[in-house]
Amino acid sequence: MLATLAVETSCDETALCIYTDEKGVVGDIILSQAKVHFPYGGVVPELSAREHTRNLLPLLDRLLKETGFDIKKVDFVSFTLTPGLILSLVVGVSFAKAIAYYLGKPLVPVHHLEGHIYSVFLEKPVEYPFLALIVSGGHTDLYLVEDFGKYVFLGGTLDDAVGESYDKVAKLMGLGYPGGPIIDRLAKEGKAVYNLPRPMIDEDNLNMSFSGLKTAVRKIVEDGSYSKEDLSASFQCAVMDVLQKKALLAMEKTGIRRLVIVGGVSANSELRKRFSELSEKLGFELHIPHIRLSTDNAQMIAYAGMERFKRGITAPEDINPEPNIPLEVFGRLWS
Ligand code: KG4
Ligand code: ZN
Repeated sequence: MLATLAVETSCDETALCIYTDEKGVVGDIILSQAKVHFPYGGVVPELSAREHTRNLLPLLDRLLKETGFDIKKVDFVSFTLTPGLILSLVVGVSFAKAIAYYLGKPLVPVHHLEGHIYSVFLEKPVEYPFLALIVSGGHTDLYLVEDFGKYVFLGGTLDDAVGESYDKVAKLMGLGYPGGPIIDRLAKEGKAVYNLPRPMIDEDNLNMSFSGLKTAVRKIVEDGSYSKEDLSASFQCAVMDVLQKKALLAMEKTGIRRLVIVGGVSANSELRKRFSELSEKLGFELHIPHIRLSTDNAQMIAYAGMERFKRGITAPEDINPEPNIPLEVFGRLWS
């Protein structure tokens, strides 16, 4: 049996997981910093790093007590190396290094987006090749996944990520942070009556753009009276139209009819509804993780770490975090 401790601190969630290849998830813990960042309408990097520093050790202590797991049984430490807020990554990577040093065990670096992709595998492995639509606070990308570690970039946003635009639009409307779940909820009570742009939707490529959409929302907010519910529904409808069109175009261009949708925005109820209706109608395979695994967590880092370790991939002891190694490049490192 192989066991790993996984550490995820790339943004505003402090997450740890103990995972074995025989039992799967033995225990996991996530501490959200949403309350800390709420007054600022977005993540404040210095506060995020400070919170990770404050919380990692007590969380590990709690996880070990709750699971009764003997930390000495850990065979390697998996951790998010990139991408993310550099200060937050530094805290997590230093923590992972310290634990690995104490145990005399290797370090296994994981790419945060690779973790998101493999969040669906925690429930059920997907057959290769497949398409991955990653929609998070920092990324909105389409990848062709040929095998574990073999990622081909197909296209993505040229400006704001979808989650980022949810958060910015919520901030514009004074709704607080994180904006995604708030807009998701409000949109259910509204109608998509505002005419908002769907940038790049008709272009025959897999690039996207969301900053113009945010600017259009800003104009409506600045013009005065508006319905928060209707504006939320209109914004969400525009976002989903673009994601849907580009995902279908990716299937058309590659001929692959297996799609996974991961990352924080995959928790969105409208996204889930639309894509499952579409997959039924058009007959393609769709995989979206459980909502708890859509947003940042350490289970996904543990799963990807286990896959890496089994392929003999470990990191040197002096490894340092990087704010943004592209996934397709990361897949080729240490292999
Ligand atoms: O994957 P994630 O937890 O962190 C990053 O890797 O960025 O994604 C966080 C993003 C935030 O922007 C948040 O507003 C968005 O996911 N999000 C949602 C929903 N839940 C979280 N967006 C739309 N609808 C949701 N229900
Ligand atoms: Zn994430």
